[in-house]
Amino acid sequence: MTTNTPTQPQKTYPTVDTLVAAMHRMTDDPLHDTGSAMVIYRGNPAAKLMIVGEAPGPQENKQGKPFVGPSGKLLDQILASVQLESEKDVFVTNAVFRLPPGVDGKAVRKPTTPEINFYKPYLLEIIRLIDPKIILLTGAVSMQAVLNETKLGITKMRGQWFEAAGRWIMPIFHPAYLLRNPDKSPGSPKALMWQDIQEVRRKYAELGLAESTKT
Ligand code: URA
Repeated sequence: MTTNTPTQPQKTYPTVDTLVAAMHRMTDDPLHDTGSAMVIYRGNPAAKLMIVGEAPGPQENKQGKPFVGPSGKLLDQILASVQLESEKDVFVTNAVFRLPPGVDGKAVRKPTTPEINFYKPYLLEIIRLIDPKIILLTGAVSMQAVLNETKLGITKMRGQWFEAAGRWIMPIFHPAYLLRNPDKSPGSPKALMWQDIQEVRRKYAELGLAESTKT
């Protein structure tokens, strides 16, 4: 499937390091005044497989790296099940780069559309500089940021490839959703994730990416 995803970032930086440094200096973003940390990436900047999550949670806010809490542990296991190492073969980032503080005793809330839109040029710039060949979008927020999809839910979209600007993009379930739905019976979210990650592995091999990752 092809899509009209915008590919031109609105802000350009010469390298990932200059972009990361500029993001760490940022004070005009909508979540700056919450005091949450700027959490940008973990993994290998030379990886050809990128994973885009939603926003940092409390563990990520503490450690300054995405997907290091319970969702991240499950994500690493899912990747390892198809012989992908998250620190070597993957670049992991988020659509929103600071924790959106929760209300009513919750640690975190879903990012709002203005928040997603504000950080989107930075995410697109990360994508341009890292230049992944495969991008996995975990859940609805990253699907909104990268594919502009707000109507179709993740259950409809998951497991399908979208091709944009020479990149293969697949929405997948968010690991947090799998933690809430541990059933593994046929047709369950976990069973579908297993199907999707095997398709990702197949595409990764088909594109010859196993040989191209520099460390
Ligand atoms: N959930 C996400 O989407 N991203 C993280 O970094 C952590 C949890």
